[in-house]
Amino acid sequence: MSESSAQPPAADRHDPLPRFHEWLADARARRLPEPTAMALATVSAGGSPSVRMVLLKHADAAGFVFYTNLESPKAADLRARPEAELCFYWNPPGRQVRIHGSITPVADAEADSYFASRPYLSRIGAWASKQSRPLPHALALPGRVAEFTLRFATSVPRPPHWGGFRLAPTSVEFWEEKPYRLHERVVHRRGADGAWSVAPLYP
Ligand SMILES: Cc1cc2nc3c(=O)[nH]c(=O)nc-3n(C[C@H](O)[C@H](O)[C@H](O)COP(=O)(O)O)c2cc1C
Repeated sequence: MSESSAQPPAADRHDPLPRFHEWLADARARRLPEPTAMALATVSAGGSPSVRMVLLKHADAAGFVFYTNLESPKAADLRARPEAELCFYWNPPGRQVRIHGSITPVADAEADSYFASRPYLSRIGAWASKQSRPLPHALALPGRVAEFTLRFATSVPRPPHWGGFRLAPTSVEFWEEKPYRLHERVVHRRGADGAWSVAPLYP
């Protein structure tokens, strides 16, 4: 093949992002509930693992973005150990994607812009919720919703305790259900030079 061929560089051919987007688009087209829901696994400073669901808000070459309360246990984990794993599961068609990588906070301007795109009551909710802290009584949350609705009747700024994280992938594994549990698994790994390689795995 000639050097001037229009083929993309070999490393790009193993970039997992196009397949990820294909699978996500398939899940959306099937109208699965919450196609962007993903399990987020973190590890605390003391080495204790935790997992919970979050919603993917953006995915591109820079990474996979989600938003949360920055005073939550998950945020504390991610600051102490900026490494995490994401796991999607879509059924049908019976597909799993695991994404491992390093974590960085989303820049203020990007978080502001996403926050501004949310519905009014979701923005108020971000102010009202002290995520994962004990709820003293049943009316505490509606009380805080009322308080912040009065405070921010028209424009709602992004709370200082609310923002996003971006997971820059170092490995992405695709798992697809096949008959007789002979499932197809393929792992893409990112080398130190940034180039992706790909390898099949036994199921
Ligand atoms: C489908 C689904 C989507 C969720 N999406 C988010 C999200 O995008 N951000 C978030 O902070 N919590 C989300 N949650 C709630 C989290 O799972 C979790 O309860 C909360 O963030 C507190 O987690 P932590 O105590 O480990 O920090 C979601 C829950 C479900 C079931």
